Amino acid sequence: MTILVTGGAGYIGSHTVLTLLEAGYGVVVLDNLCNASLESLRRVERMAGRELAFVKGDVCDQACLDAIFAEWEITAVIHLAGLKAVEESVQQPLDYYGNNVGGSLTLYQAMRSAGVHRLVFSSSATVYGAEAPVPYREDFPRGVPSSAYGASKAMVEQMLEELCSVENAWSVVMLRYFNPIGAHASGQIGEDPRGFPNNLMPYIAQVAAGRRETLSIFGDDYPTVDGTCERDYLHVMDLAEGHVVAMKHLDRTGIQCYNLGTGRPVSVLQMVSRFIAVNGVDVPYLMAPRRAGDLPAFWADPTKAWNELGWRARRCLDSMVRDTWRWQQLNPDGYP
Ligand code: NAD
Ligand code: UD1
Repeated sequence: MTILVTGGAGYIGSHTVLTLLEAGYGVVVLDNLCNASLESLRRVERMAGRELAFVKGDVCDQACLDAIFAEWEITAVIHLAGLKAVEESVQQPLDYYGNNVGGSLTLYQAMRSAGVHRLVFSSSATVYGAEAPVPYREDFPRGVPSSAYGASKAMVEQMLEELCSVENAWSVVMLRYFNPIGAHASGQIGEDPRGFPNNLMPYIAQVAAGRRETLSIFGDDYPTVDGTCERDYLHVMDLAEGHVVAMKHLDRTGIQCYNLGTGRPVSVLQMVSRFIAVNGVDVPYLMAPRRAGDLPAFWADPTKAWNELGWRARRCLDSMVRDTWRWQQLNPDGYP
């Protein structure tokens, strides 16, 4: 079976492609490399001891997609390609709608023309919005998105629901990721943010490595266990495995969505403390004002993924911080 993975050279994509190759699937990666390096896939091939097919191209390019479906007999598509910087999306909404919504639309049209109706789509916990109670459950309605990024994910979810309600051939799983962190245990592949890291974990790692002086903790007066925000961090390898499990469930038609998270909230301070204790490194930090748009706390109810897919996050917080640090130490400047 050959799987098309869009965005497969990126952070989540590289770990997912490795997991697919190790499970015996053939893989075609489509990536325009706007936020990734081909080196990630070279390493994935070495680690798996198998080759994959790579196409440098854009999901917005219908001709490129048609050529892929003509050349390979694709069984299913895992659609990860997209832009993901929340703040940037507020400044450049059209880029985000064009890439994330336009790219998805073009891809689904190309899939339909090629008779490929099995899809796993990367969604996000951000679709629940600010008003939802925690833990988030899949039967909650989507909330009001706080950024163009969030809105783009919600729009694609809606597009897929409408499509599946009228075209019976489709089998779609939408995965709502919580906060993926960590790296493959080998330290060979990991998250390689370009420029200033927006997210907590890569920032902690770069401070520990001496690349940045101090971590700013955004807000210490939230109504949480220690005043700092709480999130549901999950190991990127658990997330990668979630994709393969979800794909195996694409034999029923219709549409489903699943939370992929641990179900356990961890505060920013708890995360920093674990990173320091497990890795024996220093992470200087200071308290800073709240970051606009942050929610105090959210985490997943992961019961549905367990009951229906048999998936749950298996790796603990200590593995997440240890694997992040190993990746950071082995690749102080990211991929060459
Ligand atoms: P990433 O930036 O590392 O990977 C995205 C990949 O898509 C990159 O390799 C990039 O080059 C590629 N890409 C972007 N636009 C493209 C286009 N038009 N055509 C072809 N390739 C394109 O990000 P990631 O963290 O691996 O995220 C993967 C997916 O998961 C994204 O859709 C993201 O929105 C979603 N997601 C990520 C998180 C997270 O915390 N990382 C959380 C929720 C959802
Ligand atoms: C953000 C996005 C979310 C996206 C996710 C992964 C927002 C509002 N949400 O989630 O849509 O899916 O990234 O890409 O941006 N923190 C610090 N100091 C830092 C960095 C972060 O204290 O230098 C704190 C944040 O305030 C937050 C927590 O760490 O409380 C986690 O932040 P981050 O890793 O950016 O993830 P989210 O904000 O949960």
